[in-house]
Amino acid sequence: MSHFPFGAPRRNRVVALMAGAVLLGAAALAWAASSFAASGITLAELGHDPLGSMRLARGAYPHPVHLQFPPAQPLSAVASIGQVLFNDPALSGSGRQSCASCHDPAHAFAPANDLAVQIGGRSMDRAGLRAVPSLAYLYRQPPFSIGPENAEQEGVSLVQSISRAGHATRATKRADSSAAGRNLVPQGGLFWDGRADTLQQQAGGPLFNPLEMDAGSADRVAHVIESGGNAAMFRALFGPSVFENAQQVVAEAMFAIARYQIESPAFHAFNSKFDAWMQGHATFTRQEVRGYLAFNDPRRGNCAACHLDRPTADGLPPLFTDTQYEALGVPRNPEIPANRDPAYHDLGICGPTRTDLRNMTQYCGMFLTPSLRNVATRKRFFHNGQARSLAQVLRFYNLRDVDPARIYPRGPDGRVEIADDLPAAVRANVDHVDPPFGRHPGEPPPMSERDMRDIIAFLHTLNDGWHSPH
Ligand code: HEC
Ligand code: HEC
Repeated sequence: MSHFPFGAPRRNRVVALMAGAVLLGAAALAWAASSFAASGITLAELGHDPLGSMRLARGAYPHPVHLQFPPAQPLSAVASIGQVLFNDPALSGSGRQSCASCHDPAHAFAPANDLAVQIGGRSMDRAGLRAVPSLAYLYRQPPFSIGPENAEQEGVSLVQSISRAGHATRATKRADSSAAGRNLVPQGGLFWDGRADTLQQQAGGPLFNPLEMDAGSADRVAHVIESGGNAAMFRALFGPSVFENAQQVVAEAMFAIARYQIESPAFHAFNSKFDAWMQGHATFTRQEVRGYLAFNDPRRGNCAACHLDRPTADGLPPLFTDTQYEALGVPRNPEIPANRDPAYHDLGICGPTRTDLRNMTQYCGMFLTPSLRNVATRKRFFHNGQARSLAQVLRFYNLRDVDPARIYPRGPDGRVEIADDLPAAVRANVDHVDPPFGRHPGEPPPMSERDMRDIIAFLHTLNDGWHSPH
């Protein structure tokens, strides 16, 4: 027996190991079958990526990634001034409203209250026209553009590029592919209609907007800053004679506010459960996994087709927007005072707030796809604040095409007024191509009640400020 020192025992061990493996395999299969059933992972997904599916069924991100976050540094002196100005109500005409009044740092830089539109103006009695977006996660927002190829944009006016794009046809957006034809639609820019390109350019808008801070003249703003506590710092940063030119004071103030938004990690914290999950540091509940799958499934939510949820090729964390514009045909919101005039229509890109693309009727009704990060902290949704809950948002996506009578009101003639917030002439711009849209009245809705609840649970993982329970 010595001629085979490891003979018998070894053989036995192999057999034992094999038997063990079979037992384990059977247990694993039984376990896997139950977890797959509960996780919502389909056989197709399992076949396509067994390892990833296995991890997903256990609540782990399929293939954890190393993400590139913006550098975390202490605020520069300019950004610190910007932070003070951001929170300073003295700049406003009423003396009672700062940027933070509408963009509350404690609410992901969105309103703390549940009003569809905010009140502003010199006497704080003028209602706004649109819901206040969050200011978080704008740091990668590209400038506004329209056209077949971004590279061709240089030296081409917006209107020229639009006429070039005019004949292009649009490909359906799918959550699991990078849609072809992505560049044929408007993209980038700030505000719901993309009318500003940079945070600095943007900040002057609300400051002087008569419905918002209504600060009056540059002279007044310069005077407020010069007589406030930051005058010495202002001179130190922008030169001893900065206060001789009121326009320059305003420009530097807007620059400082923009620097604050770019530098402060509060605007791009990336500390949601979802961020931890993508890096392999958090486990999703079964409901969150199911929600993630329904969010990505082209036959159910297809949400990720527009609200991108995969890291970029360079490892940048996803921002849940493709920064493109879409006409969803959100119902009219009678709570907005401007809407008391039946002739008033907020057409997004083609006006009336934005004025340069008024005649480009093919873009009427299109609004920027917002990031969904922190969306579960909002109390109002869509550009007109029409939806009051995520459940209402999901219901809109699910029923708009299959059962429009449950989404839109009836007109005087008793007929359901589809896309009632848009004038009839531009209702054709509403997206009836991209799932979850595109089904016909009477067809089954794309999402089940459970899918919608699961997606909402998933959306809650996008809230910043998550802490590991361990
Ligand atoms: C009265 C409420 C109010 C105040 C005060 C206010 N904003 Fe806004 N803000 C809004 C609304 C409403 C919008 C969306 C407007 C639109 O799309 O036309 C907006 C949009 C923005 C955007 C674009 C966000 C995006 O997603 O594209 C930025 C940036 C911004 N505001 C910064 C500021 C700064 C900086 C200040 C202070 C100087 C400020 N806001 C003060 C209501 C306000
Ligand atoms: C075809 C592109 C597209 C698809 C698909 C899509 N969205 Fe949107 N989403 C948008 C656009 C555009 C808006 C803004 C529309 C408006 O306000 O008029 C929006 C707005 C939202 C908002 C409101 C955010 C806010 O800050 O007010 C939520 C929540 C949302 N989408 C969730 C979803 C979910 C969940 C799905 C999948 C069921 C989904 N979206 C599918 C483009 C899309």
